[in-house]
Amino acid sequence: MKVPYLSLNQQWSDIRKEALLLIDEVLTTGKYIEHEIVESLEVELARKLGVKYVVLVNSGTDALMLGLYSLGIKKNDEVITVPNSFIASVAAIQHVGAVPKMVDVGADHLIDVTQIESAITSKTRAIMPVHLEGKVCQMSKIMEIAKRHNLLIIEDVAQAFGSKFSGKMAGSFSDASCFSLHPLKNLNACGDGGFVATNSSEVADRIRALRNHGQAERNSSMEFGFVSRFDSIQAAILHIRLKKLDQVIAQRRENARLYDLAFADSDVITPIVDDEVFHTYHTYSVEIKNRDEVRAKLSKLGIDTRIHYPNLITEQKAFIDKFGSFSEKIPNAIKQKERILSIPIHAHLKNNEVKYVADQLLLA
Ligand SMILES: Cc1ncc(COP(=O)(O)O)c(C=O)c1O
Repeated sequence: MKVPYLSLNQQWSDIRKEALLLIDEVLTTGKYIEHEIVESLEVELARKLGVKYVVLVNSGTDALMLGLYSLGIKKNDEVITVPNSFIASVAAIQHVGAVPKMVDVGADHLIDVTQIESAITSKTRAIMPVHLEGKVCQMSKIMEIAKRHNLLIIEDVAQAFGSKFSGKMAGSFSDASCFSLHPLKNLNACGDGGFVATNSSEVADRIRALRNHGQAERNSSMEFGFVSRFDSIQAAILHIRLKKLDQVIAQRRENARLYDLAFADSDVITPIVDDEVFHTYHTYSVEIKNRDEVRAKLSKLGIDTRIHYPNLITEQKAFIDKFGSFSEKIPNAIKQKERILSIPIHAHLKNNEVKYVADQLLLA
């Protein structure tokens, strides 16, 4: 049996008719960039997250970069984050001239909050918790630490739209929260996209200007900006997908429940989820021994898996060239990257496919 990791084509056929009609309506107006649908999507997203403002931009990476920029993070400021994220988290810090300070992760693959304070120096300006896999970091403790040390928080919520901590949406805790709408995310465009969520009108206004050449109005730039607008055609697609998101998340959570049951008495380490966290399973990442061997066996059986991520950010040339070899202690991140494996969890999986994946993983 073939079990693909993704179901993008099925996801498109689910909305094809409705999406093509709306896309046609939007394109017929000729407003390819600033159609009103972009603004109404911002309002819908803000309502869903329980924040005052959402500003759409053209990727999650730009959301992080413009988020940091709009908070005033600048050259030589230090931003605390984790080494096991996607490269974009640190790329954004680097792009504004700041310096990433790495803190190890806990058994749940998220920032170990007990290690944050020892990474704070006189140059530290912000903490960037990364809500990896669809889980949410320990936000109450992070907020306490930030308050005590007068630090900003910028959440990387690229993988966790719809996830919650203590009943509150991920991305509603901080000064600026940054989301990705990349095709592989639970809420996904048919191309690149992202947005910043904030309760600050200054941050929202600044990003609105920065995404469009720094213009407050046409031909009047208040500062040099960027081109990071969100396309009208993608807003049309997102408008439809947002309505279906709760269903997508419910299905992913149900698949996760079946996997949890199947692996209960085995030595497969299933996702560790804090009681306060509502996990949306962007990935279902287990830890196993002999990961590469198991992965190769599954691949031969037609089961497609991924590793998020095989190389830590600190091990990649881009990081080493800029910040040098990393010698701090990150033993958990190092150990986990050899053992983690993301198995198919998409919303179109059938129960018999979940069972097949679980059975074959246990046999491998
Ligand atoms: C944790 C994390 N941060 C940032 C990003 C960047 O988002 P994008 O690919 O939309 O630029 C991603 C995307 O993969 C991500 O997983």
